[in-house]
Amino acid sequence: MTGSELDRAQETRAALEAGQLTPWAFRQSLTYVRPYKRDVWLDLALGLEPPPPDGPNLPRGCVPYLPCAIEVLLRAVDLVELRPEDTFVDVGSGVGRALAATHLLTGARVVGLEIQPELAQRSRELLERLGVANFEVVQGDSVELVERIPDAAVLLLYCPFAFDKLNRFLDRLEHRARGAELRLCCVDLPPISRSWLERIEGATEELTIYRSTLHRSSVAGR
Ligand SMILES: C[S@@+](CC[C@H](N)C(=O)[O-])C[C@H]1O[C@@H](n2cnc3c(N)ncnc32)[C@H](O)[C@@H]1O
Repeated sequence: MTGSELDRAQETRAALEAGQLTPWAFRQSLTYVRPYKRDVWLDLALGLEPPPPDGPNLPRGCVPYLPCAIEVLLRAVDLVELRPEDTFVDVGSGVGRALAATHLLTGARVVGLEIQPELAQRSRELLERLGVANFEVVQGDSVELVERIPDAAVLLLYCPFAFDKLNRFLDRLEHRARGAELRLCCVDLPPISRSWLERIEGATEELTIYRSTLHRSSVAGR
């Protein structure tokens, strides 16, 4: 990283911890950095320590912790036009890096679902340290936690589990999609084919976005 990128990371960290950074200013600082250095920069700006090793609480079929690239997150929040009044749910939220970055970029309320207790605890500590108000991190298996997903949420699914489990998650999510539109930002996942999901334009090799359509028939039937 250049000296000025490093300086910006330190300034950003200080401003974040003092609660003095708007989403606009955070985005300005992030996008000032060369794209291929942004992940390292973000870790410095957030003051992230290396993650703890994946523990015995990671069942078969669940993918270990690996952070989503900030370039992919940036594209996702822009494509879904995430706003401060929205709720962003990271399904398999790890140490809370994507939760923190998304909140800082958009002001959205953030909710994490994470199966590994140590990672869930790390993410709570991170969000508290950054002064993020009104976040929630729920520890447990996301398939069992679908009811905790708020109406009209935007979900991030960065490859948290294998196909069988993903199917079970989507089966349960379908019920949650009856009342309001859900949007799913899927990263490094195979294409999802469900009659109640349609793709939003703007996909890249790693990112596909879907919106649910079931709420439309409930509205039409009223
Ligand atoms: C590829 S990482 C993504 C981390 C995070 N979304 C990010 O981008 O920084 C997958 C995460 O999902 C978690 N995970 C795996 N299976 C899960 C499940 N069934 N329920 C909740 N979390 C799960 C793992 O512990 C890991 O933290």
